[in-house]
Amino acid sequence: MKLSGKVALITGAGSGMGRAAAILFAREGAKVGVVDVNEASAKETAAEISKSGGAAFAMRADVSNSEDACAMADETARRFGGLDISYNNAGIEGEGGFLAQLSEEGFDRVIAINLRGVWLGMKYALPHLIKRGGGSIINTASVAGIVAIKGAAAYCAAKAGVISLTRVAALEYGRYNIRANCICPGVIDTPMARRVSEEGGVTSQSNNRLSVLGRVGSADEIARTALFLASDDAPFATGAPFIVDGGWVAR
Ligand SMILES: NC(=O)c1ccc[n+]([C@@H]2O[C@H](COP(=O)([O-])OP(=O)(O)OC[C@H]3O[C@@H](n4cnc5c(N)ncnc54)[C@H](O)[C@@H]3O)[C@@H](O)[C@H]2O)c1
Repeated sequence: MKLSGKVALITGAGSGMGRAAAILFAREGAKVGVVDVNEASAKETAAEISKSGGAAFAMRADVSNSEDACAMADETARRFGGLDISYNNAGIEGEGGFLAQLSEEGFDRVIAINLRGVWLGMKYALPHLIKRGGGSIINTASVAGIVAIKGAAAYCAAKAGVISLTRVAALEYGRYNIRANCICPGVIDTPMARRVSEEGGVTSQSNNRLSVLGRVGSADEIARTALFLASDDAPFATGAPFIVDGGWVAR
């Protein structure tokens, strides 16, 4: 098992990639703090882990709220005796529309959850990781932080910001044996992707064409990348955006 004895906190773990990672990390021996703003969905993920003999607890937290972000790190460390892995994955797609049409509230909300939420997640996890003598931070960015997508100005800006925050975290905390990386997924079949997909659904021809493999990715494929970054398989990886997009950016 790749994560035995480790404690992980995963945000947005009630759905999609966060849920897949929570289940995989637990199967690999980690104790998991399953955090989501949607408490019922976090409980479902934690129950699924417990049913298979893993260790997890569910907690409601809004990652854009500093009290919640502090509480989720402290509570995970309190329950499981420390914290080794901080996976800041929660995010929203936000409202669509060209940038002159975006509402100020809509713009601010995407930045608050997708960018500030990642910063707060790291801010309150770091003291616990330092106390532990090291650890791994994984943030969810996106291909949208590298290429421009029409109708997603706030989302693209937030995800580019996550790549940048991750690099700074790697520089500042490398001396504490803390690695910080982010994952840039392409189109992945999750409830979010299904919500934003045009007619034809997430596996529509236009989505499939964004990958040179002719298909969209699965949440498990991203969870396996996160497992690699969380584990001792990636001891020299830090400060890097890991693009897992089926070749979208290479086109
Ligand atoms: N699906 C894709 O194609 C894709 C591609 C690139 C990046 N991403 C990113 O991957 C991450 C996970 O997305 P997903 O596709 O699994 O989506 P999803 O909607 O299935 O899951 C996201 C989860 O985050 C939770 N969440 C939302 N706001 C929150 C908040 N303020 N506090 C705590 N939890 C909150 C939601 O309740 C949900 O359970 C997001 O950051 C997203 O931007 C998704």
